[in-house]
Amino acid sequence: MADETFTIHDHRTGKSYDTRIFKGTVRAMDLRQIKTDPEDFGTMSYDPAFMNTASCQSAITFIDGDRGILRYRGYPIEQLAEHCSFLEVAYLLLYGELPTESQLKEWVREVALHTMIHENLKKIMDGFHHDAHRMGILVSTLAALSTFYPDAKNVLDPQVRRLQTLRLIGKVPTIAAFAYRHSLGLPYVYPDNDLGYTENFMNMLWRMSEPKLVANPVLARALDVLFILHADHEQNCGTNTLRTVASAHADPFVAIAAAAAALSGPLHGGANEEVLKMLDEIGTKENIPAFIEHVKAGKGRLMGFGHRVYKNYDPRARIIKRTAEEVFKVTQRNPKLDIAIELERIALDDEYFVKRKLYPNVDFYSGIIYQAMGFKPEMFTVLFAIPRVAGWLAQWQELLLDPDQKISRPRQIYIGHDKRDVIPIDKRTGPKATSA
Ligand SMILES: CC(C)(COP(=O)(O)OP(=O)(O)OC[C@H]1O[C@@H](n2cnc3c(N)ncnc32)[C@H](O)[C@@H]1OP(=O)(O)O)[C@@H](O)C(=O)NCCC(=O)NCCS
Repeated sequence: MADETFTIHDHRTGKSYDTRIFKGTVRAMDLRQIKTDPEDFGTMSYDPAFMNTASCQSAITFIDGDRGILRYRGYPIEQLAEHCSFLEVAYLLLYGELPTESQLKEWVREVALHTMIHENLKKIMDGFHHDAHRMGILVSTLAALSTFYPDAKNVLDPQVRRLQTLRLIGKVPTIAAFAYRHSLGLPYVYPDNDLGYTENFMNMLWRMSEPKLVANPVLARALDVLFILHADHEQNCGTNTLRTVASAHADPFVAIAAAAAALSGPLHGGANEEVLKMLDEIGTKENIPAFIEHVKAGKGRLMGFGHRVYKNYDPRARIIKRTAEEVFKVTQRNPKLDIAIELERIALDDEYFVKRKLYPNVDFYSGIIYQAMGFKPEMFTVLFAIPRVAGWLAQWQELLLDPDQKISRPRQIYIGHDKRDVIPIDKRTGPKATSA
């Protein structure tokens, strides 16, 4: 028992409390018993940005940030990227085990049956301005799906959850490809269920007058590997958003739209787009030292570097760097790769980055591949979101089946005024100039 508890001594009252240790954590609710008097609300934990708080127990993704390890359901990301397809990995995330051959065949078939979108959804997409950001279109269209499937609200029904899962995984590449074509003023290309998941996506993106786009197998595989690497990443900002919204039993379309909105931020999935802008700004290798000094002076961030959890090389960045070389055998070499490699070399040798354990993350090299494949930066985060939908759905399912979970509702430490009375309008002074 001594190993399973520790004692908190409250110097204000002289009382001691034995607190259980639960899987290496303290249950925040156990702190509530620590009071200065019976009227006291009790002690809470204060952890802005969840720096040291586990919000759930999860069996989906394991990360050891110090050692640079990432596993889905126990399988190392390196092995999944080498041996599996994205849909196989999506199945693993959702069902906990890799599929057999017949299970995979059936899963691929079922997903393919849900790739079409309602014509009215297409009309909604038509309403966006030609230069609307692709992530804005994706977020809004995902949310709009909710209005087409009112049955999705029955989130406690396993059959309903399964159907929405198929719908979302099936439709998100279609929505992404339509967003892309819309921005270029090109007619939409409808899904072709004879093609694989990634090949179908490429066909919807790039088919012109030919009856079927024959995707280059190296590029199709590279995109599939990128999808695998982005499929889940435990409790990041987007997934936490998904869990928060879904904890209110909102339907999965709006919950996933909210998660995608979080992903769009430049500190999160939006970083891949920012990396390209940064490499453009740097322009040549000669300008790198000056740029590094600029970052060290606090005048900007080295985008695609640093991570809340990884304090070592992000294993996904390592695989992406290798994949980039494969892609460049087919496309023209993106000269930005050389700037990125040199930037990485200089940064990893610089005390500022070494001391803070800032290493390249998943976004550092992915944009360089996407650009070589012909994507504009505004599309990069959409390419991140497509596979992440599978991870979000696995997290959604896990949340709803977890008896520990309730509606998500943090506490706050109130730092505002005590009670005060409303005074007549002609006596008020208004907010101070510095107030927001
Ligand atoms: C990912 C990220 C938001 C994590 O942030 P975090 O865990 O809150 O870390 P902090 O912002 O507290 O940073 C810790 C320190 O490293 C520095 N730092 C973190 N990321 C940095 C970066 N990319 N470039 C330069 N300095 C960075 C911070 O300035 C801070 O330094 P200080 O201790 O002197 O104040 C952050 O590393 C970042 O903004 N990276 C760039 C955006 C990006 O690539 N995001 C994609 C993540 S997959």
